[in-house]
Amino acid sequence: MSAHGTPTPLTAHPSGPLRGTAEVPGDKSISHRALILGALSVGETRITGLLEGQDVLDTAAAMRAFGAEVTRGADGAWQVFGVGVGGFAEPDRVIDCGNSGTGVRLIMGAMATSPITATFTGDASLCRRPMGRVTEPLALFGAHAHGRHGGRLPMTVVGAAMPVPVRYAVPVPSAQVKSAVLLAGLNAPGETVVIETEATRDHTERMLAGFGARLRVEEGSEGRVITLTGQPELAPQSVAVPRDPSSAAFPVCAALMVPGSELRVPGVSRNPTRDGLYVTLAEMGADLAFENPREEGGEPVADLVARFSGALRGVEVPPARAASMIDEFPILAALAATAEGTTVMRGVKELRVKESDRIAAMAAGLAACGVPVSETEDSLTVEGRGAQGVAGGATVATHLDHRIAMSFLCLGLAARAPVTVDDAGPIATSFPDFGPLLTRLGARLGETTPALPI
Ligand code: S3P
Repeated sequence: MSAHGTPTPLTAHPSGPLRGTAEVPGDKSISHRALILGALSVGETRITGLLEGQDVLDTAAAMRAFGAEVTRGADGAWQVFGVGVGGFAEPDRVIDCGNSGTGVRLIMGAMATSPITATFTGDASLCRRPMGRVTEPLALFGAHAHGRHGGRLPMTVVGAAMPVPVRYAVPVPSAQVKSAVLLAGLNAPGETVVIETEATRDHTERMLAGFGARLRVEEGSEGRVITLTGQPELAPQSVAVPRDPSSAAFPVCAALMVPGSELRVPGVSRNPTRDGLYVTLAEMGADLAFENPREEGGEPVADLVARFSGALRGVEVPPARAASMIDEFPILAALAATAEGTTVMRGVKELRVKESDRIAAMAAGLAACGVPVSETEDSLTVEGRGAQGVAGGATVATHLDHRIAMSFLCLGLAARAPVTVDDAGPIATSFPDFGPLLTRLGARLGETTPALPI
């Protein structure tokens, strides 16, 4: 959707090889956390490589509303002058987190143990998503939340005036829930303990340690046990945000679908809690190389080279890998449509509560493109078209979901007929340069030709 709320359709036409360097934007998860922890530290945090997508800009605006000073320098670096743990002011207006589940859930956590009240809202997609998974643990600290039926936004959170530390086992594999509890634990006295049975992305833990919080991570029989000592004084940092492996996934998978392609993605995060797609692509027979491994901003990074190497093989993705590639299933499903044989993705029911119901959205769009698919509550099966090729020639409904839009645009580059997405606007939430970047690499994206809606 454009800034004026008008859908902006976009069409991907069958394209020649994609070649060159794909400088994908900064990591979205790390960008949100850098702004929030910068706002909770005392003094000036400097952030380079921040993702300037709408989701992150909404978090920057929210941090200003809670009293931090957030500015962008002429050199593109961002400064956050934080107010310290427990120093958030009460916002005098509604906090609009736009399309961002990460933004709203992390910010709710960060304010829930201060004696202030804040009202949160978002776009139509975010207002459909469940917030109870965050407000339930926040209630254990003493916070109260009042939202719409089913724990939906708009929602008002009344922070705890006398917070108590909690011990909480996260019932769903969710880095957002884990992070909301840890951020709330920052302003509770004593030790807050979060237990996760399945490891999820660990950027909050890494960054909290970087900002000087006392934090222990132990692998126990219960799972991964994270113990945070509350009420630290966080010291401002210089944060270099690595490039987002979830954004890299789109040009990389497009290159693996379009014959003759070869791309380099410099400085992409190789955090092991985010690498499930790259493990899966290797199993499918993809030609991928990670060069110059190094550390940047407390995260492992490398330069990724992806080369087209013929049709890939369909694979079974085990449930244990789901958390480490949760945002990559839409583009994997698109790639699987071009592979030889069947790809089965299991243990993926969390996809039903993302920016859209991604199992349903991918299944409907792939079927419209002539790809046989089936779904259960927590799995998606795609019958690859292999040498026959994907028919395409459809208009796909994206349901305000940036990753659904980008996945079908990538598929359209490799299909026999163009693929149109009904609204490319949400791509700006995470990857504003997606269209221009792919075009520079050789993709044919552009005018929509009339097609029947699915
Ligand atoms: C994120 C966690 C994941 C992911 C989202 C970003 C984060 O969500 O899908 O895009 O930054 O913590 P869940 O925690 O709901 O799995």
